Amino acid sequence: MTTPLDEQQSVLEIQGQTPLRGEVNISGAKNSALVLMAGAILCSEDCRLRNLPLLVDIERMTQILAAIGVKLNRKGDVIDINAQDIGQDQAPYELVSQLRASFFVIGPLLARLGMTRVPLPGGCAIGARPVDLHVRGLQAMGADVRIEHGVVHACVRGSRKRLQGAKIYLDYPSVGATETIMMAATLAEGETIIENAAQEPEIADLANFCRSMGAKIKGAGTNKIIISGVERLHSTDYCVIPDRIEAGTLLIAGAITQSEISLSPVFPEHLASVIAKLREMGPQVIMEGPDRLRLVPAPVRATDIKTLPFPGFPTDMQAQFMALLTLSEGSSMVTETVFENRLRHVAELQRMGADIRVKGNIALVKGVPFLSGAPVMATDLRASAALVLAGLAAQGTTLVQGLHHLDRGYDNLEGKLRKLGANIRRISVVDEPEYSALS
Ligand code: UD1
Repeated sequence: MTTPLDEQQSVLEIQGQTPLRGEVNISGAKNSALVLMAGAILCSEDCRLRNLPLLVDIERMTQILAAIGVKLNRKGDVIDINAQDIGQDQAPYELVSQLRASFFVIGPLLARLGMTRVPLPGGCAIGARPVDLHVRGLQAMGADVRIEHGVVHACVRGSRKRLQGAKIYLDYPSVGATETIMMAATLAEGETIIENAAQEPEIADLANFCRSMGAKIKGAGTNKIIISGVERLHSTDYCVIPDRIEAGTLLIAGAITQSEISLSPVFPEHLASVIAKLREMGPQVIMEGPDRLRLVPAPVRATDIKTLPFPGFPTDMQAQFMALLTLSEGSSMVTETVFENRLRHVAELQRMGADIRVKGNIALVKGVPFLSGAPVMATDLRASAALVLAGLAAQGTTLVQGLHHLDRGYDNLEGKLRKLGANIRRISVVDEPEYSALS
């Protein structure tokens, strides 16, 4: 695994317009793996998670859990987690500030210990990303929560220090808040009902994981989740679902380079909106088996996209689709409704010759005949993937900087693309000083 310093001193060099071919393996889902690792705190026995992706974010989560007393042992894509000896130690701010998912520990810690302190999280710079819905959910379950000096202090009211089941309506179907409340409710006394819950596949994965430890959860994957609290959870051995966003990104890699590629394992139902959009734009997406997709390229037509909570079009695929739309026939309107600051890749795509105008949360994309390679800077995780995709299709050389974003959430993307035939390599600016002006 690279260190943050390596990532900051490296760039990806892509020679564009090389056709891709072959099969690519999809790693475990980042957003599931992160919350499942936190969910393992709910249990004081051994938990084994399989199919863990190799990512900087997962490494950071490992460090955060270790700092609060959890024992972890990772070998390849398997991690053993034992949270028997968790204490009141606060997760270090330096780690938490780099990973929004670190806030996931608050629900399980509160449920297990009756009190906890967690610094407010950091993460991608794609918007304000408050935690008010998480906090209100925990308060409804009987916790006193106050924020002091950037740290959330939570304490369960009453002498028994056990959270109480509650009926919670979420003003917005927040993925993180649904997960926080669901985890806390597994060990609460009585029944918790979450209404207007997020329906993302990662929610269902977390529910399945908790159920494998003995939790009683119904309705995960719909907008109403019912959790009947139990006294304790037991040991488990659980496999993380495939990463639908990595799969979607690689489908676009095929479409943008006009290449035929196959992907597995994937759960096609997790990608329904992405597949529907791709088909509407021209490329065919063929189901080759229950967990296998083939992308057959075709000239790309413009289309409108609006990001929404699942089962709507995912905000985590917006930047990658925009890269594809820059080369489409016609004009498209891309509306970002989930995060307020998630169009920063536009300026970088414009550097490569894209014709895009932004008005508020809407980007108007007019297809151009070609993009030209250029040095570009990744501004967040999915923006970094969009720039790699644009580089694969562009004429000449693209240099993508800011790889610490890419490495947070993609498991060896350049290795997978290289295996498909892409001309892409990571260059250390220390080894190749001609690139040092870019770092
Ligand atoms: C998760 C995913 C992220 C994805 C997002 C939406 C993880 C680790 N990350 O992020 O990749 O882009 O879902 O699919 O799983 N909000 C509030 N108050 C809250 C919580 C959220 O106002 O307490 C707002 C956010 O600012 C945002 C919207 O709700 O505008 C959606 O956020 P949410 O669904 O919570 O996303 P995350 O869980 O942060």
